[in-house]
Amino acid sequence: MAVFEAIPWTFDVDSIHFWIHYGFVILGFVLAVVSMVVQCMKPAPYGRHQQSHDSWGPMINQRLGHIVSDFIPGVILFILVYFLYGSEDARFGYTNQTFLWLWLLHYIHRGIIHPLLMRYSQKEVSLGITLGGLFPNLIFSFVCSDWIGSAVYADNYFYDPRFILGIILFVVGYIINKWADAKLRRLRNQGDNQGYHIPYGGLFEVISCPNYFGEMLEWTGWALGTWSLAGCVWLLFGCSTFIPRSKHNHTWYKEHFEDYPNRRKALIPFVY
Ligand SMILES: NC(=O)c1ccc[n+]([C@@H]2O[C@H](COP(=O)([O-])OP(=O)(O)OC[C@H]3O[C@@H](n4cnc5c(N)ncnc54)[C@H](OP(=O)(O)O)[C@@H]3O)[C@@H](O)[C@H]2O)c1
Repeated sequence: MAVFEAIPWTFDVDSIHFWIHYGFVILGFVLAVVSMVVQCMKPAPYGRHQQSHDSWGPMINQRLGHIVSDFIPGVILFILVYFLYGSEDARFGYTNQTFLWLWLLHYIHRGIIHPLLMRYSQKEVSLGITLGGLFPNLIFSFVCSDWIGSAVYADNYFYDPRFILGIILFVVGYIINKWADAKLRRLRNQGDNQGYHIPYGGLFEVISCPNYFGEMLEWTGWALGTWSLAGCVWLLFGCSTFIPRSKHNHTWYKEHFEDYPNRRKALIPFVY
């Protein structure tokens, strides 16, 4: 097979499996558009945008909320779908296993390590927010796992520029995302003050939300590397948070800190 084969995989599943997969892809696309519109109008009420009058149901522990919304879909469901619903040809392929480990690397950190380490400003979050994260995460984790568990990539896909560039983008984004989240955690631990401080250093010198920027690179790499509609809708859904929320966070910083550096952008260095 030539290196630049337009479709580098086969998705050889029965018609029920096919329509379950693409049905969820379509649902994911609709969710991403709705999420973008809603979040452009008002930031989701968690963290610095959580108001005392926000009533999205009963309050639950913030750490627990994050573990439920991220670990269950991102790790448990993902592994179950990959190994129980995928095909043998796909799930033991080196390419597919590379994608599996990249995803798990991200979600083991996001779903368990970060929530256990973080000192959140609010001890509780409303159940509605947790479910609002859990529900789409279940859908997108299913669809991404189903893809890499069922699509059989060409043997030489390891040398394909889409795969190589996708992996590079994912790893660079992962490092930026984890570095920025760790920096914010350290900032939170400064002194006795559990509030917010201006972050400085590295990408924080040019953008307000390097953690979102890093994660956006990760999922761009995932979409490119997997060369799939599943990856595209997942990237789109992530952007439906990163694009509006980075702007809301950026505006929040400027309103709360008089000395907030003027040159910073919200999400993309020098651009947005
Ligand atoms: N894939 C997706 O769709 C998606 C969606 C949303 C988030 N995420 C990821 O989840 C992670 C967390 O997202 P987030 O929206 O919570 O990010 P965030 O608003 O940047 O906050 C990250 C953590 O750092 C704390 N923090 C933020 N700014 C701070 C400051 N200036 N000083 C001290 N502490 C500060 C926050 O505390 P508080 O919680 O107390 O505000 C929060 O716990 C990120 O890596 C993001 O990429 C992914």
